Amino acid sequence: MPVVKFALENKEAAVEKGTLLVHAVRAAGIWLETPCSGTGCCGKCKVQVSSLSALELLPASRPLAENEQQVGWVLACRAQVYQNVTVYYSKAQDVSLHIVGDGMSRKVTRHPAFDKKSCGAKTQVLYADGSSGLEDGDTTADAYGAVIDIGTTTLAAALVDCLTGKEVASVSALNPQCAYAQDVVRRIVGDGKAVGICGSGLIDLVGELVRTGVIETSGRLIKPDMCHLPETLRSRLAVYNGKPAFQVAPDVYLTQMDIRQVQLAKSAIRAGIDAMLMRTKISACDLDRVYIAGSFGFHLREESLFHIGMLPQTLAGKLTFVGNTSKSGGVLLLLDQTSREDVKHLVSKIPCIELADDANFEKMFVQHMKFGMGQ
Ligand code: FES
Repeated sequence: MPVVKFALENKEAAVEKGTLLVHAVRAAGIWLETPCSGTGCCGKCKVQVSSLSALELLPASRPLAENEQQVGWVLACRAQVYQNVTVYYSKAQDVSLHIVGDGMSRKVTRHPAFDKKSCGAKTQVLYADGSSGLEDGDTTADAYGAVIDIGTTTLAAALVDCLTGKEVASVSALNPQCAYAQDVVRRIVGDGKAVGICGSGLIDLVGELVRTGVIETSGRLIKPDMCHLPETLRSRLAVYNGKPAFQVAPDVYLTQMDIRQVQLAKSAIRAGIDAMLMRTKISACDLDRVYIAGSFGFHLREESLFHIGMLPQTLAGKLTFVGNTSKSGGVLLLLDQTSREDVKHLVSKIPCIELADDANFEKMFVQHMKFGMGQ
């Protein structure tokens, strides 16, 4: 049986010939998200392998770019294993990175943010910032820290044993405050049943409708009598509350106002990126890699970001979705002295750009209201 090794996790799984790589990943006890259920259209199961000849690649509805395949990237849900192979989860240049918990992180050289000293009936706790505390009894055998990530869409917390560096428990949940933001397109119908589209689904939907011409670059839904769309799309151009809309499902409509919200959000992000590049005199072509963090970002599809023009097209093939790095970064700060020093150094060097004060921001914001990849 071929053996699949996972270099960064230091795990392996022996599988029957012809097993899908994604099943080998799971057999090794490694978590890998497969939001499209293995149809090969979301790209989230992308991994890099040591040898393409060990695999047989099945057709995917959205195959990876040629240049990605050439350097060993494959969709784990569309690759069958026939020979021994090694899997890497990060780009070659990121050899120090590996997945920790819910987000990408780096290796820890353990040196916790506090130290403990027993002094008779008490234990002194010495913190890295110079402060100290006292605990009753000898508690030197217990040293736990907690990391709490309060995000706009998710809340996550981890309990970490600082003596071993192990995460002993973790929980996460949707931030209750964003319940409505998650269901961006929510319509309540006659039988009281609520259906909707999540935020990342909205970006994908709008991206596809821009790509297929249902939404014009101006953001306007095309008129049914003026288009040459396939009937499957044309029949969904509808009227909702007296206004043009696109019918996604029997009770779900994408309205012109929803599209406007996507335009405003993507335009603000894109203008922010451009302002940063202009201020630092770096062109988008000069960027080697772009990390997209956050659990919302993790569910986005790369193509959709380009179809709506949220990111410059020159970044195609350079994106890495790194998940919940707030939490994994918090764990690093708790455990790792080098990371604490790196962060201090970086914070002192990174300039903060106030977009409100940027003379070009408003102009760029208006310019990027348009959809499309050509921008
Ligand atoms: S799970 Fe979506 S492409 Fe593999």
